[in-house]
Amino acid sequence: MYSRIISVGSYQPDNIVTNEELERKVDTSDEWIRSRTGIESRAIAKPDQATSDLAILAADAAIKKSGITKDEIDLIIVGTCTPDVATPNVGVIIQESLGLNSCPAFSVEAACSGFIYALNIANKFILSGESKCALVVGAETLSRITDWNDRNTCVLFADGAGAVILKPSEDTGIIYSEISADGTYADLLYVPYGTSRKPIHEKENDYFLQMNGNEVFKVAVKKLESIAINTLKKNNLTVDDIDWLIPHQANIRIIQAVAKRLGMPMEKVIVTLAEHGNTSAASIPLALDKAITDGRISKGDRILLQGFGAGFTWGTTLLTL
Ligand code: ACO
Repeated sequence: MYSRIISVGSYQPDNIVTNEELERKVDTSDEWIRSRTGIESRAIAKPDQATSDLAILAADAAIKKSGITKDEIDLIIVGTCTPDVATPNVGVIIQESLGLNSCPAFSVEAACSGFIYALNIANKFILSGESKCALVVGAETLSRITDWNDRNTCVLFADGAGAVILKPSEDTGIIYSEISADGTYADLLYVPYGTSRKPIHEKENDYFLQMNGNEVFKVAVKKLESIAINTLKKNNLTVDDIDWLIPHQANIRIIQAVAKRLGMPMEKVIVTLAEHGNTSAASIPLALDKAITDGRISKGDRILLQGFGAGFTWGTTLLTL
C-alpha cells in the first residue's frame, strides 16, 4: 500500500510585480536580480488576500482535478510560516470554507520545508489507515513579512499556494520521505517579532524577515546535495533513475550548484523561479503543478522533491506520480 498524489492545484495572485518595478523602489537592477537569483517577476497578494484565501483557491483547483467530492477529505495539513492569524490555524480556515467540520486540520511551521513536512505527515496518516483522503497545502504570503525597503530580501520573496490530494493506492506513489532540522542555524534566517517571545505590538514595523544570504546559500547547497544523495542511496537508485528533480525555488544558483554536484542535467530539474520567486512552502507544489500543466511531468514519472528552509529545516519526498 502506498499513498499517492492523485491531483495537484495551485494559485498565484494576479498582482505581478516585475524586477523593473522593484528598480523604482530600491537600489537594484533587473540585471542584478536575474543574474544573482533567476527571478524575473513575482506574484504579490492584494491587501485583502490572506494566506488562507490563496490556499483555498489552490485546494479548490486540486479538488476539481481529482474527481473526489470534498466530503471525502478526512485530513487537512498546511505548510506555512505566514498564517492568517496566530489562531485559528490555516488548516481550520480551509476546512470551514470547504464546509467540513469533523476532520483533523492543522498547519505545520517549517518555513520553506513546510510542504515537504506536511506531505510527510499526511503520508504517515494514509499508511496507518487513519486517513483515506488528505488535502496537503503549501501556502504563503511572504510579502507580509518582507521589508520592501531592503534590497537584500525584497527581490527574493513572493506569495502563492499549491495543494495536492493524497489517497491510498496499490500503485506506487510516495516511495520514501524524510524530514529533519538543525536549530543551530536559526539566526541565519528568522523573523524577530511574532507572537510569544517578542509580541509584534511591542515593536511595530520590526517583524520583517532577517537573512544572512551568503551563509544560507552555502548551507542550502550542501544540505540539498546530501539529502538527495541519502534518499537515492536508501532506495538503491542513481540520478539516472530520477525523471525530475523539483527543488525548493530559492535561487537559480543554489539549484544549479546542487544539480551539478549531483550530476543531474538541468533539463531534468524543474525551475519556476523566473515567474514564481521564492514562495517558501508554496514553491514545490506550485512548481509541480506548473510542470504537470505544461506537459513536462506526466503520470508514471519518478520525481524527487526537495525542501530547505529557515530553522534550518529540510526534507525530501521520492514519489511516482
Ligand atoms: N540589488 C543590487 N545589489 C544587491 C542586491 C540587490 N537586490 N542585494 C544585495 N546586493 C549587493 C550587496 O549589497 C553586495 O554589495 P557590496 O559588495 O557592495 O557589499 C553585493 O550585491 C553582493 O552581495 P551578496 O550578498 O554577496 O550577493 P550574493 O551573490 O550572495 O546574492 C542572495 C545574494 C541572492 C541573497 C544570495 O546570497 C542568496 O540567494 N542566498 C540564499 C537566500 C535564500 O535562498 N533564502 C531563502 C532560503 S530559505 C527560505 O526560502 C525561507
